[in-house]
Amino acid sequence: MSTLLEIRDLTVGVGEKIILRGLDLTINAGETHVLMGQNGTGKSTLASAIMGNPAYTVRSGSILFEGEDITNETADKRARRGLFLSFQNPEEVPGITLENFMRTAKSAVTGEKPRVMQFRKDMNAAMDKLNMPQGYASRELNVGFSGGEKKKAEILQLLLLNPKLAILDEADSGLDVDAIRIVSDGVRRYRNEGNALLIITHNAKLVEELTVDYVHVLDQKKISLTGSAELITRITEGGFAGLGDNKADKGGASASREAQ
Ligand SMILES: Nc1ncnc2c1ncn2[C@@H]1O[C@H](COP(=O)(O)OP(=O)(O)OP(=O)(O)O)[C@@H](O)[C@H]1O
Ligand SMILES: [Mg+2]
Repeated sequence: MSTLLEIRDLTVGVGEKIILRGLDLTINAGETHVLMGQNGTGKSTLASAIMGNPAYTVRSGSILFEGEDITNETADKRARRGLFLSFQNPEEVPGITLENFMRTAKSAVTGEKPRVMQFRKDMNAAMDKLNMPQGYASRELNVGFSGGEKKKAEILQLLLLNPKLAILDEADSGLDVDAIRIVSDGVRRYRNEGNALLIITHNAKLVEELTVDYVHVLDQKKISLTGSAELITRITEGGFAGLGDNKADKGGASASREAQ
């Protein structure tokens, strides 16, 4: 089993504020991880730090991808290595069509321009899978898209870019039940033994039909608890408060460090 992502003792800040402290996380190829946690605990911050968003400063610790230290690498280099993040709040980009954006993203990541006809064919096929009318290809990226349509455009990117590690930040928020199924189906088609997923969600529905290997809870600036898929049911039914003292039991070294 090859390790894709290895985060060691990571401390991340925005300006003066420390958001993550002493966080450890390892993701191997072939695994699906779910990250949960109360609002504002730092889940999106972790995703941004992994992707190299310069607004988030790594104060200490390291991020390795396929064994190489990428802690100080630019976001576009990380994207070329095969890291992908679907945003919680995708931006509207006037003046660029969805199709042009996708083609530009593909050529930025692979280093070669995709052939126009083949790319259009691939894109149409992916749009069909996501139940997106093909007219959307010529619309400006996310401009006037509904919340759910923006999320589908993110999953379309996932299918076309085919990254090694995909981080989905609340890909399901604002989606109706049918759209959640379509997105979940798209995510399932993407996953294979050579790649991996980190899914940030508040909603068990998205991951219901996926095989989840690990569930992590982010609390007190780090991963405070890791368990199997049944942890999602426990959280859904009993809330984060219902996890009680277990968090301290399984937090390991970083939990005791935090307590000091
Ligand atoms: N650019 C920023 N400037 C200032 N504070 C920030 C910034 N980004 C994040 N924060 C703060 O860091 C904390 C963690 O935010 P983050 O968005 O990572 O939480 P989250 O776990 O993703 O929450 P949610 O479940 O609501 O999406 C919050 O208190 C937030 O206000
Ligand atoms: Mg968030």
